Amino acid sequence: MTTSSSSSLLALLIERIQREGPISFADYMRMALYEPGYGYYVTNATRIGWEGDFYTSTDVSDLFAHCVGRQLLQMWHLLGQPERFHVLEQGAGRGHLAEGVQAWAQREEPAFAHVLSYRNADIRMGRDALSEVATSVEEIHPHVLLSNELVDAFPVHVVEVRDQHLYEVYVDIHHGRLHEVLDEPSSGELAMYLERYKVPWQTFSNGWRTEINLDALHWMELAARLLPVSSARKKLSGFLLTIDYGEKARGLYTSERRHGTLACYFQHQLTERPLQRPGEQDITAHVNFSALIDAGRQYGLRLHQFVTQREWLLQLGIRNELEAIRQRDFALIETARASDQGQVALLQWYNLRHRVAALTDMAGMGNFKVLIMKR
Ligand SMILES: C[S@@+](CC[C@H](N)C(=O)[O-])C[C@H]1O[C@@H](n2cnc3c(N)ncnc32)[C@H](O)[C@@H]1O
Repeated sequence: MTTSSSSSLLALLIERIQREGPISFADYMRMALYEPGYGYYVTNATRIGWEGDFYTSTDVSDLFAHCVGRQLLQMWHLLGQPERFHVLEQGAGRGHLAEGVQAWAQREEPAFAHVLSYRNADIRMGRDALSEVATSVEEIHPHVLLSNELVDAFPVHVVEVRDQHLYEVYVDIHHGRLHEVLDEPSSGELAMYLERYKVPWQTFSNGWRTEINLDALHWMELAARLLPVSSARKKLSGFLLTIDYGEKARGLYTSERRHGTLACYFQHQLTERPLQRPGEQDITAHVNFSALIDAGRQYGLRLHQFVTQREWLLQLGIRNELEAIRQRDFALIETARASDQGQVALLQWYNLRHRVAALTDMAGMGNFKVLIMKR
């Protein structure tokens, strides 16, 4: 089904392609996600959460936000407990992570809650993490720049191997419909990128394709510029914490992963048809964390930690908190299991335990990666 907003975006795309010729997949994705008035991320419909197209860790359990809170508390200590501690979350969506962190801090760490200044930014609020103008309005340099599932949304170039030659995927029109065509890469940067990560694409068979996220490199530059610079050498001045699905380059660009990682989400259905419903469905690609780390280093940051979400949540005490909740809130399970209240408590306990299992499951969200860089 095509709605009126997707057909008007389609009209804009067709008009542009008629004017300019085929556009790169990255340009198509930029319009599908960000075109003012039409793009998936800039229109108002509910997209995230159980009623939307996909859910994130913040929808699964508050315990995720509590771990983020404990992480921020550690960072505050490492930075010498500044009197005002500025956190900026980019791509904050509905702001649920901020709410969860602040509620946790008020309850568990009131002194920290008192100094914590947590701001949300999202493209929907006109704060594009990829725009120099939008990021330059951040009047205060944050001590921590935070994001959860932001970088996977940035537009990606798609390349494909044919007869040991590298082509790029473009979007063209045929009988009024969008369709893919292959042509020479739009920039030499694409082949250089694969070279840099030692991807032996010349040895891969026809049809092997992957995505290249050049915007992620640009974002790292802007992000590094947002973090404060310390006057004293070697003194820590800020952190970048980003969580997403993806891998280091070695795990991402393998010959077995022939179709790349592009995925579209529409009403919790995973599809592989990015040209369908432009503006109506989410389009994402896995993140190359090697590229983020390299770019971060290039712009003056150092690696602090790179782990799976599972390891990170365990380090930050998610299991201990779960056990403390069991002892505090679910005593009835032991003392009156057969009663109605005992049965209700048991079901609620199973629910909570399953949610924590989902956040740490290596076949799912537990295999997301957590990258922390510092300046
Ligand atoms: C997958 S959602 C994650 C939302 C939230 N971080 C969470 O964990 O629930 C991605 C969010 O990033 C925002 N976003 C996408 N591209 C962005 C950009 N270039 N700049 C700022 N926000 C962006 C979207 O509007 C959306 O709210």
